[in-house]
Amino acid sequence: MPSILVLNGPNLNLLGLREPDIYGATTLAEVEADVIAYGAGKGVNVTCQQSNQEGALVDAIHAARGTHDGIILNAGAYTHTSIALRDAIAGTQVPTVELHLSNIHARESFRHHSMIAPVAVGMICGFGAAGYSLALDAIIGHLGETG
Ligand code: DQA
Repeated sequence: MPSILVLNGPNLNLLGLREPDIYGATTLAEVEADVIAYGAGKGVNVTCQQSNQEGALVDAIHAARGTHDGIILNAGAYTHTSIALRDAIAGTQVPTVELHLSNIHARESFRHHSMIAPVAVGMICGFGAAGYSLALDAIIGHLGETG
Protein backbone atom coordinates (compact mmCIF):
# COMPACT_ATOMS: atom_id res chain seq x y z
CA MET A 1 0.00 0.00 0.00
CA PRO A 2 1.49 3.40 -0.93
CA SER A 3 2.43 5.57 2.03
CA ILE A 4 2.14 9.35 2.08
CA LEU A 5 3.37 11.80 4.71
CA VAL A 6 1.21 14.87 5.29
CA LEU A 7 3.56 17.41 6.85
CA ASN A 8 2.29 20.67 8.29
CA GLY A 9 4.55 23.49 9.40
CA PRO A 10 4.39 26.45 11.76
CA ASN A 11 1.11 27.75 13.15
CA LEU A 12 -0.95 25.09 11.41
CA ASN A 13 -1.58 23.54 14.84
CA LEU A 14 -3.76 26.64 15.34
CA LEU A 15 -6.11 25.79 12.45
CA GLY A 16 -9.70 26.49 13.40
CA LEU A 17 -8.65 29.29 15.78
CA ARG A 18 -6.21 31.11 13.56
CA GLU A 19 -7.60 33.79 11.22
CA PRO A 20 -10.63 31.63 10.32
CA ASP A 21 -11.66 34.10 7.61
CA ILE A 22 -8.47 33.09 5.76
CA TYR A 23 -7.82 29.52 6.90
CA GLY A 24 -11.33 28.26 7.74
CA ALA A 25 -12.89 26.80 10.86
CA THR A 26 -11.64 23.23 10.46
CA THR A 27 -9.09 22.18 13.08
CA LEU A 28 -5.83 20.42 12.25
CA ALA A 29 -7.13 17.27 13.97
CA GLU A 30 -10.18 17.31 11.67
CA VAL A 31 -8.05 17.96 8.58
CA GLU A 32 -5.78 15.06 9.52
CA ALA A 33 -8.67 12.66 10.25
CA ASP A 34 -10.28 13.59 6.92
CA VAL A 35 -7.14 13.07 4.83
CA ILE A 36 -6.37 9.77 6.59
CA ALA A 37 -9.94 8.56 5.86
CA TYR A 38 -9.74 9.83 2.26
CA GLY A 39 -6.47 7.94 1.83
CA ALA A 40 -7.91 4.75 3.31
CA GLY A 41 -10.72 4.93 0.73
CA LYS A 42 -8.08 5.09 -2.00
CA GLY A 43 -5.93 2.30 -0.55
CA VAL A 44 -3.23 4.72 0.58
CA ASN A 45 -1.71 4.85 4.04
CA VAL A 46 -1.52 8.47 5.27
CA THR A 47 0.66 9.58 8.19
CA CYS A 48 0.35 13.12 9.55
CA GLN A 49 2.95 15.24 11.35
CA GLN A 50 3.11 18.89 12.37
CA SER A 51 5.94 20.98 13.74
CA ASN A 52 6.59 24.64 14.38
CA GLN A 53 10.36 24.02 14.12
CA GLU A 54 12.14 24.34 10.79
CA GLY A 55 14.80 21.75 11.72
CA ALA A 56 12.16 19.23 12.80
CA LEU A 57 10.50 19.63 9.39
CA VAL A 58 13.88 19.03 7.69
CA ASP A 59 14.31 15.90 9.84
CA ALA A 60 10.81 14.69 8.92
CA ILE A 61 11.59 15.09 5.19
CA HIS A 62 14.85 13.17 5.64
CA ALA A 63 13.02 10.41 7.55
CA ALA A 64 10.44 10.17 4.76
CA ARG A 65 13.13 8.86 2.40
CA GLY A 66 12.62 5.11 2.19
CA THR A 67 9.61 5.30 4.54
CA HIS A 68 7.02 7.20 2.49
CA ASP A 69 6.40 7.30 -1.25
CA GLY A 70 5.51 10.97 -1.26
CA ILE A 71 4.96 14.06 0.86
CA ILE A 72 2.18 16.63 1.00
CA LEU A 73 3.82 19.70 2.51
CA ASN A 74 2.17 22.79 3.90
CA ALA A 75 5.30 24.55 5.10
CA GLY A 76 3.35 27.59 6.34
CA ALA A 77 5.49 30.73 6.49
CA TYR A 78 8.69 28.67 5.96
CA THR A 79 7.46 28.29 2.37
CA HIS A 80 8.59 31.82 1.73
CA THR A 81 11.91 31.73 3.57
CA SER A 82 13.35 28.24 3.96
CA ILE A 83 16.21 27.22 1.72
CA ALA A 84 16.73 24.36 4.21
CA LEU A 85 13.31 22.83 3.41
CA ARG A 86 13.91 23.33 -0.29
CA ASP A 87 17.28 21.58 -0.02
CA ALA A 88 15.79 18.72 2.03
CA ILE A 89 13.27 17.97 -0.72
CA ALA A 90 15.90 18.29 -3.44
CA GLY A 91 18.36 16.19 -1.45
CA THR A 92 16.02 13.33 -0.59
CA GLN A 93 14.14 13.37 -3.91
CA VAL A 94 10.92 12.32 -2.15
CA PRO A 95 8.13 13.49 -4.51
CA THR A 96 6.45 16.43 -2.79
CA VAL A 97 3.23 18.30 -3.47
CA GLU A 98 3.23 21.82 -2.03
CA LEU A 99 -0.05 22.79 -0.42
CA HIS A 100 -1.59 25.97 0.98
CA LEU A 101 -5.08 26.47 2.33
CA SER A 102 -5.17 30.05 1.12
CA ASN A 103 -4.39 31.36 -2.36
CA ILE A 104 -0.93 32.72 -1.57
CA HIS A 105 -0.85 34.59 -4.91
CA ALA A 106 -3.93 36.62 -3.98
CA ARG A 107 -2.41 37.76 -0.67
CA GLU A 108 0.51 39.95 0.47
CA SER A 109 3.42 40.11 -2.00
CA PHE A 110 5.79 38.43 0.51
CA ARG A 111 3.65 35.28 0.15
CA HIS A 112 3.92 35.19 -3.65
CA HIS A 113 7.37 33.62 -3.70
CA SER A 114 7.81 29.98 -2.70
CA MET A 115 11.21 28.43 -1.99
CA ILE A 116 9.50 25.02 -2.27
CA ALA A 117 7.84 25.40 -5.68
CA PRO A 118 10.93 24.77 -7.84
CA VAL A 119 11.53 21.37 -6.20
CA ALA A 120 7.87 20.33 -5.81
CA VAL A 121 5.94 18.13 -8.22
CA GLY A 122 3.31 20.88 -8.19
CA MET A 123 1.31 23.17 -5.94
CA ILE A 124 -2.30 23.29 -4.76
CA CYS A 125 -3.50 26.46 -3.08
CA GLY A 126 -6.68 28.35 -2.39
CA PHE A 127 -9.11 25.49 -1.74
CA GLY A 128 -9.02 25.52 2.05
CA ALA A 129 -9.07 22.21 3.90
CA ALA A 130 -10.31 20.43 0.74
CA GLY A 131 -6.80 21.02 -0.63
CA TYR A 132 -5.46 18.10 1.41
CA SER A 133 -7.58 15.53 -0.44
CA LEU A 134 -6.87 17.30 -3.75
CA ALA A 135 -3.16 17.07 -2.96
CA LEU A 136 -3.53 13.38 -2.10
CA ASP A 137 -5.17 12.74 -5.48
CA ALA A 138 -2.35 14.72 -7.11
CA ILE A 139 0.46 12.75 -5.47
CA ILE A 140 -1.31 9.43 -6.13
CA GLY A 141 -1.65 10.40 -9.80
CA HIS A 142 1.99 11.46 -9.96
CA LEU A 143 3.21 8.23 -8.36
CA GLY A 144 1.05 6.23 -10.77
CA GLU A 145 2.68 8.02 -13.70
CA THR A 146 6.23 7.73 -12.44
CA GLY A 147 5.71 4.25 -11.16
C1 DQA B 1 -0.23 28.94 4.36
C2 DQA B 1 0.13 30.25 3.65
C3 DQA B 1 1.38 30.86 4.26
O1 DQA B 1 1.69 32.09 3.60
C4 DQA B 1 1.17 31.16 5.72
O2 DQA B 1 2.35 31.66 6.31
C5 DQA B 1 0.68 29.96 6.47
C6 DQA B 1 -0.34 29.12 5.86
C7 DQA B 1 -1.58 28.38 3.87
O3 DQA B 1 -1.85 27.21 4.14
O4 DQA B 1 -2.37 29.10 3.25
O5 DQA B 1 1.07 29.72 7.60
O6 DQA B 1 0.77 27.98 4.07
